[in-house]
Amino acid sequence: MKSTSSIGAVKKENASNELKLFLIASSLACFIILFLLVHQTNQDPYIQKTLELSGSVENGSRLYRMNCVGCHGITAQGLVGPELSKVTEELSDQTIIKQVINGLTPPMPSFEMEPQSMADILSYLHSLNM
Ligand code: HEC
Repeated sequence: MKSTSSIGAVKKENASNELKLFLIASSLACFIILFLLVHQTNQDPYIQKTLELSGSVENGSRLYRMNCVGCHGITAQGLVGPELSKVTEELSDQTIIKQVINGLTPPMPSFEMEPQSMADILSYLHSLNM
C-alpha cells in the first residue's frame, strides 16, 4: 500500500516539473517575442519615415557626391566599396537604409542624416538603374 502511494507522489512531482518547464519555456517565448517587438519599433520609425517621404533625385545626387563618391565612385561603379548602380535591384530599400545609417560593415561609416536626406539618396540610387 505504501509503495503505491509513493509512486503516486513521484508521478505528481513529475507533473509539477513538467508544469514548471512549460511555464519557463512559455515565459521565455514571451520574452523573445517582446524583445523582437521592442527591437523592431525601436528602429522602425526612422525607416518608416524615410520610406513615406518622396525623395529628390537632384538633392540625392548632391548628397551622394558629398558623402559616398570616395568609396563607391563618381558613377557608382565601385571603388573601395561595391558598385551601387544596380543596388536597388539587389537590396530592399530597408536594407539599404540600414546599411547607410547603422555602420555595420566597416570601413563604411554610419551616416547620421535626416530621413529626408536618406529618402533623397534612395531616390538617387533608384534613378541609377532606370
Ligand atoms: C569609407 C568608404 C565608404 C563610404 C564613404 C561609403 N561606403 Fe558604402 N560601402 C563601403 C564598403 C567597403 C561596403 C561593403 C561593405 C560590406 O559588404 O562588407 C559598402 C557597402 C554599401 C552598400 C551595400 C552594397 C551591397 O551590394 O551590399 C550600400 C547600399 C552602400 N554602401 C551605400 C553607401 C552610401 C549611400 C554612402 C554615402 C551616404 C556610402 N555607402 C558611403 C564603403 C563606403
